[in-house]
Amino acid sequence: MSRLRRKDEHIFTALKLAQRSAISGFTDVAFVHNALPEISSRDITLTTELFGRTIEAPLVINAITGGGPGPGRINEALAIAARDTGLAMAVGSQTIAVENPAYEESFKVVRRINHHGLVIANVSAKESVETALRAIDMISADALQVHLNAPQETAMKEGDRDFRGWLDNISKIVKRVCVPVIVKEVGFGLSYEAARRLNEVGVVHFDVGGRGGTNFIAIEGWRGEGKQNCLESWGITTAASLVETDSCGLSAAIIATGGITNGLDAAKALALGASAAGIAGTYLKVLWEQSVDGLIQSIENTKSDLKKVLLMVGVNSPQRLQNVPVVITGRTREWLNERGINTANYARRNGLVSTQNSIFPPGDGKPTKS
Ligand SMILES: Cc1cc2nc3c(=O)[nH]c(=O)nc-3n(C[C@H](O)[C@H](O)[C@H](O)COP(=O)(O)O)c2cc1C
Repeated sequence: MSRLRRKDEHIFTALKLAQRSAISGFTDVAFVHNALPEISSRDITLTTELFGRTIEAPLVINAITGGGPGPGRINEALAIAARDTGLAMAVGSQTIAVENPAYEESFKVVRRINHHGLVIANVSAKESVETALRAIDMISADALQVHLNAPQETAMKEGDRDFRGWLDNISKIVKRVCVPVIVKEVGFGLSYEAARRLNEVGVVHFDVGGRGGTNFIAIEGWRGEGKQNCLESWGITTAASLVETDSCGLSAAIIATGGITNGLDAAKALALGASAAGIAGTYLKVLWEQSVDGLIQSIENTKSDLKKVLLMVGVNSPQRLQNVPVVITGRTREWLNERGINTANYARRNGLVSTQNSIFPPGDGKPTKS
């Protein structure tokens, strides 16, 4: 099957499966309501610095397949939405256009439409330095995403089965390119160990791409055999992956992607250490159903809800969300504690409060919370 046809099928299957609910872990994360916020909405700004650019909110329209006439039109619409709302945008994998210049236009359109925006290039971890450089050049990218997608390849009949050499490749790319390099999972999450190994070869920017949203094992299963697959539950949820990656203490920027659908989830991700939240599947679906105006409205709603959270917890910028109390419960807390990440320590470091981390210091006579 041609790469182009496969990419079209990814889009249609992603749209078909978009209704299915999955667990990103953010329902285990809650802000502690602040009944005395003492702030005016006029004092709040969502403006954020990311990879040397200023964006209007800490949100990224994340990589969605490009290449060819259909995806090219999607890229064009996403670029208009990114420009009109001031968000960052990553394009989908550009290998197809590096191999066949006929497809370049479907990526170049993004920079043509959005001259001054934060635009991020995208290649697979198996690609050469030369491919990475051409991808960046193609769209005058401000940053480069290098994606890791072993589970997706494994699920694809025609997919790769040999994943050797990725780390070495990434190391070469990081050394040679002149823009920030973000290593990104595509929906199965980065672990603490993976983030550390990537850091050892020079990676400081991560997109955790966790489980809970678009699921490429499910997509490939439906595409190939039209049925569910026992491996669909594979992966680390976005919330757990975010805390795992953040607790390495090695990152300059973390993008939290995977099942984020609204401003509240985005706010929780920011509170847990993300510099920005990435959204792919949800925005693709809105674009498909409501066209570009609908997508712009949906992004404005995400921004507005994010701003309301800042107002309710009483902070004036997204960055300050890392200083407000958050409770981590349920499976996410269990997962993190099993993994040796003490949510109490993590909570203290970030000014968070977990269920283990009593608001009363030990021995002060107050009842302790379990
Ligand atoms: C149709 C589709 C195509 C995608 N293509 C790419 C790609 O080419 N490169 C990449 O890094 N990620 C790709 N992704 C993954 C997303 O960038 C994101 O990591 C993943 O979908 C999880 O986010 P979500 O739950 O918000 O969709 C694609 C996602 C979708 C839905």
